[in-house]
Amino acid sequence: MDKVNHAIGLMDSGIGGLTVLKAAKALLPDESMVFVGDNARNPYGPKSPEEVIDYSRQIAHFLVKEHDIKVLAIACNTATACALPVLQDELDIPVIGVIDSGAKAAVSASKSGRIGLIATEGTVKSDKYQEDIHALDKDAVVTAQAEPDFVQYVEKNTYHDAETKKAVEEHLASFKDAQIDTLILGCTHFPLLTEAIANGVGDDVTLVDAGAATASDLADYLKAEGLLRKKGDGKPSYQLYTTGPVVTFEAIANDWLGDGDWQYKHLPLESLTNMD
Ligand code: DGL
Repeated sequence: MDKVNHAIGLMDSGIGGLTVLKAAKALLPDESMVFVGDNARNPYGPKSPEEVIDYSRQIAHFLVKEHDIKVLAIACNTATACALPVLQDELDIPVIGVIDSGAKAAVSASKSGRIGLIATEGTVKSDKYQEDIHALDKDAVVTAQAEPDFVQYVEKNTYHDAETKKAVEEHLASFKDAQIDTLILGCTHFPLLTEAIANGVGDDVTLVDAGAATASDLADYLKAEGLLRKKGDGKPSYQLYTTGPVVTFEAIANDWLGDGDWQYKHLPLESLTNMD
């Protein structure tokens, strides 16, 4: 069946994946999107790869079975690091992750080959960024730092607070010694903290938003494969599910996404755990 008019599916452990959705919507304004944020089980960063694979499979199967999505974007670095090959293998739709695009964008942005990475513990430990970067530039020097607190600043909606901004800047002071010229925001929650992150590492460091790089690769992919939604099929829709409380999710999402026809929905965990 021709799926071009079906929605793009996106998934994350919580709010962060909306940074990918926002970037994708800007590039693909005619596409419908269905997003699942697994806020009830956030964070994924400290969880075992097996657990992250299990949750990612549940969400992917929900998006395929209930929404018949045409492509899945894993809008989460931790889930990409753990579950990308599994999902590519078991789904019969294209599945793209965020790490490939982030690594590529960082290598092309860096002049010195000294690249910083901030991400979750799971992503840093997986070494996937390091591997992808070294496949493109074997001499690159990657300095990676896990920043689990940054995820919580976003999930708890304290990312605008002055104390948060100060804490972010302090955490990043260690990158001064590493003399990086490029820093990968290797967690999709981090673009909400861009200003503080930029202050923390200084003006000379280029920030690479892995999610935005992925949105751009996704748009190129859909164009190249002839998978763009046909015009004249009505307005695109945006269904945003959270496994957590809708009110917190909606407050942060509205702040980040701005006005739009966002349809917020609660997704009970029971409907995910029955998925496979
Ligand atoms: N947004 C996620 C990522 O890109 C993970 C945050 C978490 O659940 O720890 O890695």
